[in-house]
Amino acid sequence: MEYYKLFILALAYASTVSYAAPSHDGGPQIQWGACDPSVVNDTSLSCGFLEVPLDYQDPSVGKARLALIKANATGERRGSLFFNPGGPGGSGLSSVNENKDLLLGLSGGVYDVISWDPRGVGNLTIPGEIFCFEDLADYAAFFNSTIELTGIEETGNFTDPADIDALLAQAPIMQKKYEEVGQKCLNSPNGKFLKYVGTAAAVRDMVSIANVLDGPSAPINFVGISYGTLIGSWFVNMFPERVGRVILDGVIDPVVFATQEEALVRHFSILVLGSIVSLILAGIATQAFPGSLISTDTIYKALITGCALTGPSGCAIASEGDGPLDIDAKIQALLMAAYDATKLNASIPLTSGDIRIQLFSEMYSPSDWSNFMNEELPQIIQIVNGEAPENTSQGLSRRSKNGIRSNLLAKRNSDQDENLSFTSPAIDCADSVDLRGTTMEEVFKGIISTTQSTAHLFGSSWPILFYRCSFWPVRSVERYQGPFNKTLANKILVVSSILDPATPLPGAETVARLLGTSAVLVRQNGFGHTTNSEPSSCLKDISIAYFTNGTLPANNTLCEVDADFEVFSGVNTADILAQLPSSDV
Ligand SMILES: *[C@@H]1O[C@H](CO)[C@@H](O)[C@H](O)[C@H]1NC(C)=O
Ligand SMILES: *[C@@H]1O[C@H](CO)[C@@H](O)[C@H](O)[C@H]1NC(C)=O
Ligand SMILES: *[C@@H]1O[C@H](CO)[C@@H](O)[C@H](O)[C@H]1NC(C)=O
Ligand SMILES: *[C@@H]1O[C@H](CO)[C@@H](O)[C@H](O)[C@H]1NC(C)=O
Ligand SMILES: *[C@@H]1O[C@H](CO)[C@@H](O)[C@H](O)[C@H]1NC(C)=O
Ligand SMILES: *[C@@H]1O[C@H](CO)[C@@H](O)[C@H](O)[C@H]1NC(C)=O
Ligand SMILES: *[C@@H]1O[C@H](CO)[C@@H](O)[C@H](O)[C@H]1NC(C)=O
Ligand SMILES: *[C@@H]1O[C@H](CO)[C@@H](O)[C@H](O)[C@H]1NC(C)=O
Ligand SMILES: *[C@@H]1O[C@H](CO)[C@@H](O)[C@H](O)[C@H]1NC(C)=O
Ligand SMILES: *[C@@H]1O[C@H](CO)[C@@H](O)[C@H](O)[C@H]1NC(C)=O
Ligand SMILES: *[C@@H]1O[C@H](CO)[C@@H](O)[C@H](O)[C@H]1NC(C)=O
Repeated sequence: MEYYKLFILALAYASTVSYAAPSHDGGPQIQWGACDPSVVNDTSLSCGFLEVPLDYQDPSVGKARLALIKANATGERRGSLFFNPGGPGGSGLSSVNENKDLLLGLSGGVYDVISWDPRGVGNLTIPGEIFCFEDLADYAAFFNSTIELTGIEETGNFTDPADIDALLAQAPIMQKKYEEVGQKCLNSPNGKFLKYVGTAAAVRDMVSIANVLDGPSAPINFVGISYGTLIGSWFVNMFPERVGRVILDGVIDPVVFATQEEALVRHFSILVLGSIVSLILAGIATQAFPGSLISTDTIYKALITGCALTGPSGCAIASEGDGPLDIDAKIQALLMAAYDATKLNASIPLTSGDIRIQLFSEMYSPSDWSNFMNEELPQIIQIVNGEAPENTSQGLSRRSKNGIRSNLLAKRNSDQDENLSFTSPAIDCADSVDLRGTTMEEVFKGIISTTQSTAHLFGSSWPILFYRCSFWPVRSVERYQGPFNKTLANKILVVSSILDPATPLPGAETVARLLGTSAVLVRQNGFGHTTNSEPSSCLKDISIAYFTNGTLPANNTLCEVDADFEVFSGVNTADILAQLPSSDV
């Protein structure tokens, strides 16, 4: 889940007492009942629906229907806490189903946790999930023989000029394909809704739900992670007077998002201001994608450092006495072997591009590193060496059942991969800046320079949904493009790990700086996407104190990851950080 991976829930009680039901004005009500068991299997959760305008500026267009979920407060209820799990395109219903206890715990149990499937998500909200192809076979045939299915093959940093030529030769083909995909999506069953999905609509939908549950002037409490922080940034600046207690974790830079094309390279002057990104299904929406990769090489260093520190007993790829550079050499050799094999036979089960995407997804969650290095990487090595039965590659490479290379888009819906969802790009691109005539050749040149200058290992990851937006035909009927420096009714908490592969720390710094005295910044001294990627009782206590008492920590507090959390056997986050060059951390 990359960006995603979280939780969500629904709302307060529907029926009882004065507080919840705004029926006094004859407005809509939410009938809470059992959830659809095909989506939510925790029977302690309640679900409901709310109708809202498809277009808040033009009610004549018709209605959307939001599917809602609620986890009752475990203590004395003080209102509702809204949650969005990121993506874009993450399901609020699924994430509350999976993370109810975490969400209730972080908020001290004093709020009903409420979430919803945003427009374009799932099959209960209308408009629902956006599909542009009949099935994966249709998708595969459409993209046959393109980098969409193979990834980009290159050795470290595009060292071989032939790889650059090969990539640039695909530019006109890929541009045409992506333009055609846009048209296919427009012609799909949900095509007429494409301009009604997006973050501004999500913000107004959340406010509509809050108005029904808690009344039209009640403060709105919200937790947004990853792409959910974009909903959060837009919300607090669109409705500053409605801001209650809000935590944004794993922060997209909303200024970059509002002003730059996501596909293009950001220049490092932006670092001076501070900012970040994320992946799909990770979701991702974010700032310009290449700029979001600024921390990935360092997080990779953390992985190989942790492996070297634990040694062969805790990390299968390590030999006695190996340092981080020795581990790196083995991984580079693996990538090179896959690259060479692909050159000989383009149909091999794992390309170097596949392995790089897999490694990239590992950057999100240090809690998976030990398993990855001890279980998955040895299998990948076997496959590349031709020593494994072909079917071993299935789970590893994230290829679909029919052998098609999956991508970050599909990964989010592993249970839905028979029908590739386009909800993530639909939301992300609907929110993007206007089309500027950017060509795919410019996009590819940006990828090459990002790979050579900043993100040596992951700059050439492909496909990545953000690269579609320069060719996507639709923009949302409403986009919020600033200002992002409003004075808020209540102070909010802006949170980030110091090394986030998708939404780097500068995004959080930018949001906190622009909000000034309305925001407090808390950093977690570790790596991974959002602070949920590693446990920190320091941060948990801050969250509970904030939600239950309104207490805020000192600005710029640095929380440590729990010392008893071992990334590798006997090796914790602080051990690894101590070995990284000080210029990296
Ligand atoms: C709705 O989605 C769920 C989860 O993906 C699935 O199990 C269910 O079959 C779907 N229902 C319909 C009517 O498509
Ligand atoms: C509920 O669904 C989750 C996946 O969403 C699954 O891991 C879990 O086993 C299910 N629980 C039950 C009781 O079916
Ligand atoms: C949630 O709380 C409401 C109001 O107290 C109550 O009516 C409802 O039964 C509760 N739902 C569950 C699933 O416990
Ligand atoms: C995939 O989505 C299309 C809509 O684009 C739909 O017509 C088709 O039935 C879906 N296929 C499956 C297997 O769900
Ligand atoms: C891709 O094209 C090749 C010929 O160029 C063909 O043999 C193959 O069947 C095609 N694959 C798909 C999935 O359409
Ligand atoms: C990529 O470039 C960097 C910086 O020049 C260098 O340190 C690194 O070794 C290169 N990686 C490979 C695999 O060539
Ligand atoms: C290429 O690899 C595929 C898949 O492993 C295999 O079926 C095919 O025989 C190979 N082709 C050649 C020419 O080796
Ligand atoms: C691969 O195929 C073999 C033989 O059909 C089977 O025993 C094994 O479980 C399969 N492995 C995976 C990972 O599917
Ligand atoms: C807020 O930002 C805008 C630019 O977006 C700027 O013109 C304005 O002066 C700023 N306001 C404050 C109070 O800093
Ligand atoms: C917190 O510190 C940041 C700089 O790191 C600053 O931009 C922000 O305005 C400060 N917030 C408060 C409430 O002082
Ligand atoms: C909330 O504040 C009260 C009074 O200051 C204090 O006793 C309590 O421990 C605080 N609770 C939390 C969770 O910080």
